Amino acid sequence: MTRNQNLPVYTGDIAEQHIDPAREYTAESQEIAFSGEQHAIWADLFAGIHQPYLLEHICREFIHGLELLQLDSQRIPTVAHLNQRIQPRSGWRIERTAVRYTLADDWYAKFAQRVFLITDYLRTRDQMEFTPEPDMFHDIFGHLPYLTLDFYARIEDKFAPAYMNASAEEKEVIKRLAWYSTEFGLVMEDNRFKVFGAGTISGRSELTNTIMEFYRLGRDNVIDYKANVFEQLQEHFSIRKADIHRIIDGVNELHRGGQMSSQNQGWNVVHALYDKLGIRREGYLGGEVILAPFDVDTIAGIPKTVYAFNPMFFVCESFEQMDALLDSYLKPIALRVD
Ligand SMILES: [Fe+2]
Repeated sequence: MTRNQNLPVYTGDIAEQHIDPAREYTAESQEIAFSGEQHAIWADLFAGIHQPYLLEHICREFIHGLELLQLDSQRIPTVAHLNQRIQPRSGWRIERTAVRYTLADDWYAKFAQRVFLITDYLRTRDQMEFTPEPDMFHDIFGHLPYLTLDFYARIEDKFAPAYMNASAEEKEVIKRLAWYSTEFGLVMEDNRFKVFGAGTISGRSELTNTIMEFYRLGRDNVIDYKANVFEQLQEHFSIRKADIHRIIDGVNELHRGGQMSSQNQGWNVVHALYDKLGIRREGYLGGEVILAPFDVDTIAGIPKTVYAFNPMFFVCESFEQMDALLDSYLKPIALRVD
């Protein structure tokens, strides 16, 4: 058997589930016992990300929030500890759920009450570098440091009121906006690209691949890091926008055909797509991913690639800009009276 055959294959069958109150944890049963092996997996995941060569590429808000959250590097935290660190700071509350991948309707109903769900599922040893499922390491390590901070609570607060008021089509766009901001977004800080999204932070493969793209853009003379980086990104994007939209159309087609259903396939089929479209993988488009300025119309067109690596990441010039761009789409929907 080759190594590839031993890798888990994600076939897209991780179904989103409704929250079933009969199966859920109650206020009294929030704390659960974890095995020694689960604590050991937590410790290894924590150590894998908590490395200076990775942390320096993550935005400073995350680092600050991580200090405030005071996670134990060796043990999975209790819900009581998380709430003690989070609730007085942002007003959000943490609740454990038995659902592994919550349906967006149920997820946002909790968001509307400022409740952030954490699943009781922890990835297994064969998924240390990548898991398509949001497990408790993703939920806790990726998201919760931010929930100690007002600005993040403010960003998360935008989604539920819009989602509850949205048409089916708008809901799809809202999910994509959340995906490409709070899950996989990037932000400029000190004229450098920084990782912001919880999905990127909690998965070592996608995190390192993203950071490698920062370096590649410099190495291949696409971005001059001594000049204004975001302006250069905007310029590259506007010059290649037509090609990028062809790539996005192609990604949609692959996605619909179920061809982006594993971490291996994800990027390999995207490489093949470039060839098919006759787009040379060089210069700005020469990496494993495309970095683009955060743009609502572009994001509305690209699917959430839940089971594979993302082919594209979106960069905000600042958190103020992220605020404003999210508001531009979400606020009119939230305020709409039918
Ligand atoms: Fe998440």
